[in-house]
Amino acid sequence: MRPEKKRSFEKIAIVGATGAVGRQMLQDLEELPNFDAELFLFASPRSAGEILHFHNKRIAVQAWSLEAAKDIDIFLMSAGGDFSKEYSPKLVEQGAIVIDNSSAWRMHKEVPLVVPEVNSSQLDTMQSGIIANPNCSTIQMVVPLAAIHQKLGLEMVAVSTYQSVSGSGQKGIAELSKQIKDRFNLNEINPQVYPQAISFNVLSSIGAIDPFGHCEEEKKMVLETRKILGLEDLAVHATTARVPTINCHCESVLVKCKKSISLPELKKLFAAIPGVVYDPDLLPSDSPSPLLVAGKPQIYVSRIRLGHEQTKSAYFQFWVVADNLRKGAATNAVQILSYLWGTK
Ligand code: A2P
Repeated sequence: MRPEKKRSFEKIAIVGATGAVGRQMLQDLEELPNFDAELFLFASPRSAGEILHFHNKRIAVQAWSLEAAKDIDIFLMSAGGDFSKEYSPKLVEQGAIVIDNSSAWRMHKEVPLVVPEVNSSQLDTMQSGIIANPNCSTIQMVVPLAAIHQKLGLEMVAVSTYQSVSGSGQKGIAELSKQIKDRFNLNEINPQVYPQAISFNVLSSIGAIDPFGHCEEEKKMVLETRKILGLEDLAVHATTARVPTINCHCESVLVKCKKSISLPELKKLFAAIPGVVYDPDLLPSDSPSPLLVAGKPQIYVSRIRLGHEQTKSAYFQFWVVADNLRKGAATNAVQILSYLWGTK
C-alpha cells in the first residue's frame, strides 16, 4: 500500500469509463490544460469495443483486466466498491496510484479522503497509493463547512438532502426515465433500483437502514464529514432523501458555531470561499437549482439566513446545490489528479 510518489503520469486510465461518473471523468480530463498523457478506458466485457471520444480522438473501451492495466501510472476508478476492494491494492502493488470514487476505502485509516479545497495537504504526506473521493453529498457540504469552521468554529451540523438519481449511476437515470414514460403510457411501474417508484415521488432514505434508524447515505455524510474536516467528535445530523431529478444534489444545511456572526459578514464569508459560487443579489428565477447547476463544476450556495428577526447569531442556515457527477464525483477526482500532477 505504499507506492513511490509519481508526479509525471504518462499513462492514465479511467476504469468504469462507460458509467455516469466515468463519462464525466472523460469530459473533465478534456478540460485539463496541456493534457499530454496516453489515456486508457476500461469497463466490463459488455462494453468492450465501444468507442468514446477524447480531444477528437476515438478511443476503444477495453474489457478490464489486470494484464491490460499493468503499465498504467494512475487510475481514475468508478466501477463500484467490490471492484475497487479487489483491484486497487493489486494496482498499488504494481506501483500505480488509484483515485477511487467508491465507498470501499473512504474510512480506511491510511487512505486520504480528499476534497482539494479543504485538505489537499493530505496528498503531500499520504502513505497509501489509494486516494478516496468522498461521497457526493458530503463533498458539496464540506467545502462551505471548512470555511465556516475556520472563521467561527463549528459545533453542530444538521443537513437534509434532496439527491438526484444519477447518484445511483446509469441505472438510476434509466429507472427514472422509464418510470416517467410508463406513467404517461399508463403502464405498470416495476421498481428495480429503488424500493418504491421514483417518478413523481420522494424517498426518505438512501441505502439500507441500520438498527438505530440511520440509512447508509446518512452514515457516510456523518463519518466522512468528520474525517475530511479532521473533527472526530463533530455533531452531524443527516437526513438523506432521493428525489426524481436526474442530476445535482440539493441540501438544506443548519449549523451551530462557537462564535456569532451578522448576516452581512456571513454573506461576505460565503462569497470568498474558493470553489463556491454565491451571489447575494440573485432573483428567485436565477436561484441555484438542479436544472441551472447541472454541468457546472462549482458548488452553488444560496438562501443564507440567521434565525427569524436575528441580527447576529451562532446558528444559521443555507442551501447548497452541486452537480453530483461533477464536483460530487468526477471533477473532484480530476482535481486530485491535477494536484498530484502539479498542474494545480
Ligand atoms: P459497463 O458499462 O460495461 O457495465 P455506473 O455507476 O454508471 O453504473 O457505471 C459503472 C461503471 O463500472 C460502468 O462503466 C461499468 O461498465 C463499470 N463496471 C462495472 N463492473 C465492472 C467490472 N467488473 N469490470 C470493469 N468495469 C466494470
